[in-house]
Amino acid sequence: MPERIPTRVVAIDPVAPDAAIIAEAAALIRAGRLVAFPTETVYGLGANATDEAAVLRIFAAKERARDDPLIVHLAEAADLASISGRLCGSGAALAAAFWPGPLTLVVSRGAGIPATVSAGLDTVAVRVPAHPVARALIRAAGVPIAAPSANRFMRTSATTAAHVFEDLDGRIDLILDGGPAAAGLESTVVVATDSEVRILRQGAITAEEIERVLGFVPLAGPGRAGIQPSPGMMAKHYAPRTPLVLINDPAAAALARAVGELRGDGRHVGVLASSDDLAALGALPNVTPFDLGPADNRAVQASRLFAGLRALDAAGVDVILARTLPDEGLGRAINDRLRRAATTIVGAAGPAAD
Ligand code: TXA
Ligand code: MG
Repeated sequence: MPERIPTRVVAIDPVAPDAAIIAEAAALIRAGRLVAFPTETVYGLGANATDEAAVLRIFAAKERARDDPLIVHLAEAADLASISGRLCGSGAALAAAFWPGPLTLVVSRGAGIPATVSAGLDTVAVRVPAHPVARALIRAAGVPIAAPSANRFMRTSATTAAHVFEDLDGRIDLILDGGPAAAGLESTVVVATDSEVRILRQGAITAEEIERVLGFVPLAGPGRAGIQPSPGMMAKHYAPRTPLVLINDPAAAALARAVGELRGDGRHVGVLASSDDLAALGALPNVTPFDLGPADNRAVQASRLFAGLRALDAAGVDVILARTLPDEGLGRAINDRLRRAATTIVGAAGPAAD
């Protein structure tokens, strides 16, 4: 356990961030300290990416495995030259289409970024976030900012400042509270080098959106030698403390059946589902619902997913139930997170292979 330090939470306008607050946070980053800040995906836990001691503080605060590489955040795509070589054709096309925004590109690592950031790999993950607070902070710090999601290692990513505080109070210097993160899902990670273009992590930018830019979907397929799959691809991740049973069945009736069985066993059930699924279920004793939003609005469901897992965890239910969505658009990333968070996967297709 790292030594306990006082953690301050400071509210900041997410659209027009106060320059004095940004200056103070930037000074902390330059001094090698840790600052959590909002991005359009989830909250990040930032440190000066060029300062190895500061980067090591991130790993200590999160209790993150040292072989799990970090994403480096830049204020402008043009700043890429300072940390990496040129982008390959596909990388340049993706950067032009999605930066600033929730896309992370894995590219070759230049000398300015310590190997610790990349867990010793000769590549580095880079993202230009769109959130005004994130961009103002990076610009004012004058250095690239390494930032993983601001949660304890293996836990659900933080989509509010309260989530960050819950996981990291006493371990970091400052939390900039800019309200709930809009996307609620992490960035899509794409390795883009001369030898390989492939999605390593599904995220806020869908495979379909990437296909529209590249003309093909760089999904699946065995990784080539020398390319380590994202450790974010670990089977178990994003886990609530409460067991999560995932129903791998598109029929709403399957959810109702599972709720009935668990209640029959005398268990208090948390149900993480769309408004439509919850309406079909009706109000039941020993059931605590969390409404993800309308069934036809994946963006809202994505934005509430992690908050829902944390809320049902905090509600003290015995088990959480959720069901998978059709594997398309944001449904793919939502399913990916649910599968990694699940203790058990049941349903028509049987236990999902990972
Ligand atoms: O939306 C996001 O991406 C958020 C915000 C804060 O930007 N950050 C985030 O970081 O989710 P983190 O550390 O929780 O996830 C980073 C992912 C991990 O799956 C990691 O393995 C992968 O990116 N990654 C980082 N560097 C890599 C590299 N050089 N090669 C392959 N994967 C890499
Ligand atoms: Mg993470």
